[in-house]
Amino acid sequence: MALLKLVFYPDDILRTRAEPVGKLTEKTAQFMDDMAETMYKSQGIGLAAPQVGLSRRILTMDVPASEGGHDLIQLANPEIIESSGKIIWQEGCLSFPGISADVERAAEITVTGTGRDGESLRFELSGLGAVCMQHEIDHLDGINFVDHLRGLKRRLVLREYARLNKSLISTEAGVHA
Ligand code: CO
Repeated sequence: MALLKLVFYPDDILRTRAEPVGKLTEKTAQFMDDMAETMYKSQGIGLAAPQVGLSRRILTMDVPASEGGHDLIQLANPEIIESSGKIIWQEGCLSFPGISADVERAAEITVTGTGRDGESLRFELSGLGAVCMQHEIDHLDGINFVDHLRGLKRRLVLREYARLNKSLISTEAGVHA
């Protein structure tokens, strides 16, 4: 296991559509475990591969069943095959330290994908579980939670982010060195 380095907005990889994963290898499984370790150490509930610098369709999340989630999920090529309802949740993101904002998403989803050992998986998620999964799949499509905000709300949140994270924005190269 190893900790991976987090990538912060406005890194280009966070706005890039990630590539599907082919055959799952031992290396992919190891990467998924590293992602999970990185998520737990960062006290996150979800993490997508682009957030640790790999543009591949892989995510991990751990939201308790009492919150509509599931014990540790490690998923490649996730797809939402059903969704219903609406829910508004105050979201944050490990790639956007310090800010949060209300985002509207589907309240219940069914997602399929491939697990770390190559098995086919299917999860029914709701509440925070559904919110988190949609947030992570968005990352795989190059979409960040602030992209769900419009107009003044979006400008205010991004201005606050810039104020809090001057070092990430003005010396981005240094952050990733
Ligand atoms: Co995020």
